[in-house]
Amino acid sequence: MKPDRIHFGADYNPEQWPPEVWREDVRLMREAGVTIVTLGIFSWASVEPEPGRHDFSWLDEVMDLLGDAGIAVSLATGTASPPAWLSRLHPQTLPVTREGVRLSPGSRQHYCPSSPVYRQAAAGLAAELGKRYGGHPALALWHVGNEYGCHVQECYCDVSAEDFRAWLRERYGDLDTLNAAWSTTFWSQRLGDWAEVLPPRAAPTLRNPAQELDYRRFSSDALLACYRAEREVLRELTPDVPITTNIMGMWEPVADYASWAPDFDVVALDLYPEPKDPRAHIDAAFFHDQMRSLGGGRPYLMMETATSAISYRPPNRPKRPGLNRLWSHQAVARGADAVMYFQWRASRGGAEKFHSAVVSHGGADNRIFREVRALGAELAGLARVAGTRVPADVALVHDYANWWSLELDARPGELRIPERVRAHYTPLWQENVTVDVVPPEADLSGYKLVVVPNLYLCTDAAAAGLRRYVEGGGHLLMSFFSGIADACDRVRPGGHPGAFRDLLGLRVEEFWPLGEGERVTLTGGGGADLWADHLVPEGAEVLARYADGPLEGEPAITRHAFGAGLATYLGTRPDEATMRALTREALRLAGAEPVLAGLPDQVEAVRRGPRLFLLNHSDRPVRAAGVELGPLDVAVLEDSRAGGATEGGA
Ligand code: GLA
Ligand code: GLA
Repeated sequence: MKPDRIHFGADYNPEQWPPEVWREDVRLMREAGVTIVTLGIFSWASVEPEPGRHDFSWLDEVMDLLGDAGIAVSLATGTASPPAWLSRLHPQTLPVTREGVRLSPGSRQHYCPSSPVYRQAAAGLAAELGKRYGGHPALALWHVGNEYGCHVQECYCDVSAEDFRAWLRERYGDLDTLNAAWSTTFWSQRLGDWAEVLPPRAAPTLRNPAQELDYRRFSSDALLACYRAEREVLRELTPDVPITTNIMGMWEPVADYASWAPDFDVVALDLYPEPKDPRAHIDAAFFHDQMRSLGGGRPYLMMETATSAISYRPPNRPKRPGLNRLWSHQAVARGADAVMYFQWRASRGGAEKFHSAVVSHGGADNRIFREVRALGAELAGLARVAGTRVPADVALVHDYANWWSLELDARPGELRIPERVRAHYTPLWQENVTVDVVPPEADLSGYKLVVVPNLYLCTDAAAAGLRRYVEGGGHLLMSFFSGIADACDRVRPGGHPGAFRDLLGLRVEEFWPLGEGERVTLTGGGGADLWADHLVPEGAEVLARYADGPLEGEPAITRHAFGAGLATYLGTRPDEATMRALTREALRLAGAEPVLAGLPDQVEAVRRGPRLFLLNHSDRPVRAAGVELGPLDVAVLEDSRAGGATEGGA
């Protein structure tokens, strides 16, 4: 895929329609400015109706129709929903839940990620598709599977158990090391034989947290192995065609996407912001930043989004006029080189028939289609943005192992990563500062400020990296309950936070989680809730204390000069206004500039390549950077800082 345009398109499922409709589809696609479609995402049963017997007749015809119309194809391998015959002939490919229930076919993604039978059958289908269409002029991209782990993230069957043992042998080598890693002396869990090693199946009470954590890691790797099995086959057959799978922008730790990223030729995002949610665009901005960062700053594809309503979140509210345009531009502003929808034509039957599409049940003579068509024309004018980058001075550290472990049972307080990440990301968004989302082991040297929400679990490498970063002059903003556990979820000895005591210049003596509705006041103004560290400064300067509550008079927020840098620590959860003030101060000290200062509330500004994007997420007209923006309006300006670009723009 050449970065010569912002691609525009949709999932296209022509097997649900007779051939006359295909011709009408292609005509409407051209009218809407469609440049690419993802074809055959759930076509396994249509192209392989019986084991080993392939019927490509319909796909041949559709590939040619699209190719002749100049529409590129992201060809799906169709392996996310195995055909009925696979489940009938090989019931052991069906996944088993934690409670021991074997799931049935009749929906989708009904396969055990560790199943060699499934993996082989899927790779076999990918090979057939590779042989048949590898040389087709319309083929632009391979789309492997679909949303790995969206419904089945883990399987607890015996095949998975065996695969887990192999994974653990690889990671730990022998049982003594595994026993130490899992702290199995606690509750007499010592493992004396590999046969005793099991997935964390339903058990009487709290399970071993290290076993739980490793099962999440293993399951992420098992899903990745499914992707890789197909990728290898396709790479061999078509070395020049890029390969990807679509991952999900959502607040669930489905898989460790940071570890998957090197296997994507281009990152592909599925994003369904909720039209009813007044802060959906801030979450969306976060996921865009995450996807761009996963690809090391390279452009990614927004592979799926909705033109309007999403069918599984009742009430299924449509997007108001202008919202699709606004959110699509937000994707492009933050680094996407494609805007694509699920799906092209609304299905007549099936589970998602009330999900919005480009062509509705009533056809194309309606608002949704007209808006899509207008957007297609606008995106065609943004060709100069394609392939360009989005600069960011600030990094936010986000880690899946931390997410998995922090939310396990029996922690001192009920911390949830989505809330914790949002609390740190929102003020950065409000200040119009562009953020990269990076794993804790990333090279941080290029950033002026690094924000670390609640990094409870932290590897030695990450601890050393963060230390080096501040020592070398970096600025850090870190929240409570960070640096407590090692990679095996064992508490770091020698006083909390074991990984960061010297860096932060303090010791946390006790955790004082606050009760539901319990608020404390901070000296200097503002309040806090959820959590209070009882901390003892060991060199850190106290910025604020608890003015009341169980730790009245004790330090709550500190700052420590460490090496050439500065580390600010929040021992509690400040309210939104206080968090914003603290973030603004951290940005100022670090010298991190907003894209544009002094913008009206709910106006987002992003620089990308030669352009400056202004996005008005509010319902009122505003004036920003000398431009009038209506409600939900967008302006794409020449970026004077980028220098010299003149053409294109919306
Ligand atoms: C019970 C058990 C202990 C310990 C405590 C604290 O008393 O007997 O082993 O688990 O609860 O949870
Ligand atoms: C996901 C899937 C699509 C469709 C959409 C809408 O993104 O990949 O197949 O199910 O959700 O629900």
